Amino acid sequence: MHGVCGFLLACALPLSFATPDSDDPFLWLSALRGRGYAEGSLLADNTGGECPEDCDCPPSFPIAMYCDGRGLTAMPRVPSRMKYLYLQHNRITALSDSALDNATNLVWVFLHHNELSTDNIGQRAFAKLQSLERLYLQHNNLTRVPSNLPRSLRDLRLNNNYINQITPAILEGMDNLTILYLNDNALTEMGTSLKGLNSLTLLDISGNQLNKVPDSLPEHIHQLYLESNAISAVPEGFLGKFTQLQYIRMGHNQLTDKGIPRDTFNVTGLVELDLSFNQLERIPPVSDTLEHLYLQANHIKEFTLSSFCSVVDVMNFSKLRTLRLEGNEISAGDVPSESALCLRLANTIDV
Ligand SMILES: *[C@@H]1O[C@H](CO)[C@@H](O)[C@H](O)[C@H]1NC(C)=O
Ligand SMILES: *[C@@H]1O[C@H](CO)[C@@H](O)[C@H](O)[C@H]1NC(C)=O
Ligand SMILES: *[C@@H]1O[C@H](CO)[C@@H](O)[C@H](O)[C@H]1NC(C)=O
Ligand SMILES: *[C@@H]1O[C@H](CO)[C@@H](O)[C@H](O)[C@H]1NC(C)=O
Ligand SMILES: *[C@@H]1O[C@H](CO)[C@@H](O)[C@H](O)[C@H]1NC(C)=O
Repeated sequence: MHGVCGFLLACALPLSFATPDSDDPFLWLSALRGRGYAEGSLLADNTGGECPEDCDCPPSFPIAMYCDGRGLTAMPRVPSRMKYLYLQHNRITALSDSALDNATNLVWVFLHHNELSTDNIGQRAFAKLQSLERLYLQHNNLTRVPSNLPRSLRDLRLNNNYINQITPAILEGMDNLTILYLNDNALTEMGTSLKGLNSLTLLDISGNQLNKVPDSLPEHIHQLYLESNAISAVPEGFLGKFTQLQYIRMGHNQLTDKGIPRDTFNVTGLVELDLSFNQLERIPPVSDTLEHLYLQANHIKEFTLSSFCSVVDVMNFSKLRTLRLEGNEISAGDVPSESALCLRLANTIDV
């Protein structure tokens, strides 16, 4: 469920993290090529090293090979000097064990928006890429996470596939993995697959069929996206161990008051909390450091100011800036007048 930008929340992604599809950090190169640079590059390809016919290998950047959006149905040869491989938006259906044999220096491999299925990816297709840091396989036909992925990965994108199962060891030892997109797949559980991902800061497993929060969530997580699943309850103290968690999205689940132990979301450090489109009848207590709270489309019947401020006076107030409550069972008249003191920083309260 991405791209609903009417939602403040969807637009408020921190800039340092690209959304799954805005992914061409070398856009400037395409722009150069677009300005008539292409003719020059064809000539210079001869001096810059071999380059498959269907692709561009800019002489000014001879370690990148651009084959994106060329209608390719098979993998081109990849010369051994390449570090950056752009193959997205094609119709590639298979990746054999030897397809990347000569290209062991690859650092980025972009294969998103192709037609790769799990059975057509060699078990060892990626195994030799010991320097690989980014692997983009989103929008393919995968039903499993590919085997033998390099442990050097930092950014792995597998969203919008048909992945329905994840084995405990498949991500084991990826000490540097920082970003993992597994959203919009068909996962019903995560098992212990996330265990030991000590560098993971962004985990997106929204749009699956999870009925509980994964066990063994990495402790350094900073952004946790769990929206559009089937979660009805969270474990006691669930967020207590995450010292760096700032963004949590659990909208479009089946959360009820009963499923949320009292101080679950009253944790210092949280900046944004999305609990919209659930079945809550009360506003859960939140930390006074929270800045954005989304509670629209629940069954909330009462505006409990004590959920934001346990003490209301000149010195004690909430940092809340955005509060969305529309689509509940309260109206503007239910917001008590003391709110002005407690919620003095709120520039939008939508009821
Ligand atoms: C790898 O390099 C060897 C020697 O240059 C060549 O024969 C072979 O076809 C290359 N393999 C691939 C997959 O590009
Ligand atoms: C990939 O999935 C699409 C959509 O489900 C389907 O139309 C296509 O035939 C599949 N391609 C392959 C190679 O499996
Ligand atoms: C993680 O990154 C560090 C520093 O770049 C590197 O030394 C280490 O080998 C990497 N770990 C893995 C599993 O590749
Ligand atoms: C949150 O927890 C703190 C300390 O654990 C407590 O003092 C505060 O009253 C709680 N906030 C709310 C809104 O319940
Ligand atoms: C209220 O603010 C005062 C002054 O900053 C502080 O000493 C006190 O602990 C606060 N009370 C609560 C319950 O946060």
